[in-house]
Amino acid sequence: MPEGIIPTIFDNSGIHVDVRNSDEPLDSNELSERLRGYDGMVSLLTDRINATVLEANPQLRVISNVAVGYDNIDVETATRLGMAVTNTPDVLTETTADLALALMLGVARRLPEADAFVRSLAWQRWELMPSYLGTGLHGETLGILGMGRIGRAVARRAVHGFGMKLLYASRNRMTPEDEREFNATYVDIESLLRLSDVVSLHMPLTPETHHVLNREKLAIMRPSAILVNTARGPLVDEAALAQALAAEQLWGAGLDVFEDEPCVHPQLLALQERVVLAPHLGSATSETRRWMVSMAANDARAVLSNNPPQNPVPQQS
Ligand code: GLV
Repeated sequence: MPEGIIPTIFDNSGIHVDVRNSDEPLDSNELSERLRGYDGMVSLLTDRINATVLEANPQLRVISNVAVGYDNIDVETATRLGMAVTNTPDVLTETTADLALALMLGVARRLPEADAFVRSLAWQRWELMPSYLGTGLHGETLGILGMGRIGRAVARRAVHGFGMKLLYASRNRMTPEDEREFNATYVDIESLLRLSDVVSLHMPLTPETHHVLNREKLAIMRPSAILVNTARGPLVDEAALAQALAAEQLWGAGLDVFEDEPCVHPQLLALQERVVLAPHLGSATSETRRWMVSMAANDARAVLSNNPPQNPVPQQS
């Protein structure tokens, strides 16, 4: 079907809804043009809703993002223009935490290499010490950067399910009860990187967290360590990560997000071992994605019906 607007739908609130039948991102000029005349938008994380788009469309009253992260929206400008911005927290917490554990296990137990080996018909016999020997997670130390909802869901699985020890660094420290629940130790980022066998990122992307793992920070990590990123690509300097992996300064990485999605650094793509790459599918189960869409649509409808949205993102001053 050629890209366009699916013929008008009316929902029972009487709000006129047009649905674009493509999720190909638009550049800001095109997006600005397309939004003319609309009071609200249900956006995807690939829609870059910057000041140009917002200022060209001051009639917008709400932008409902189908994602928990909202670094694709200039919330400060939206707030200044009196627009509400909403997101889809909670519903994707467990789904995304599952993927973080899947990446940890996939890298540690070298599942992609094992899968490729079987498919290549090279498997002749069971071997005691195959080339794809992995490493275990039980009893290892997990360092979580960003102990919000998803960080905690990962901690729960890792500590109570896999018997991992937990270090964490976060803007907000957990309560003593929560720290006791996970037997967690609050540390600074450098200590976390120095002491962890697996580092998992769960912080939002902001100007402060951009390249929180830069070349210098990656160099602190153990050569036996695994890095997992299900948060946002630009938290990590991807070129520096690719070089560190190629030079075996790190053991492996499980990455669901990239600096310039859908482009992946060629040096990362070239690494065949102990690196698992996924196409930003943290929340990608059919139930969770359906929930996210309906939450975003409900919040757009709430604002346009002069009701408070369920999930407003924090207003920027
Ligand atoms: C996905 O990355 C999200 O922010 O929901």
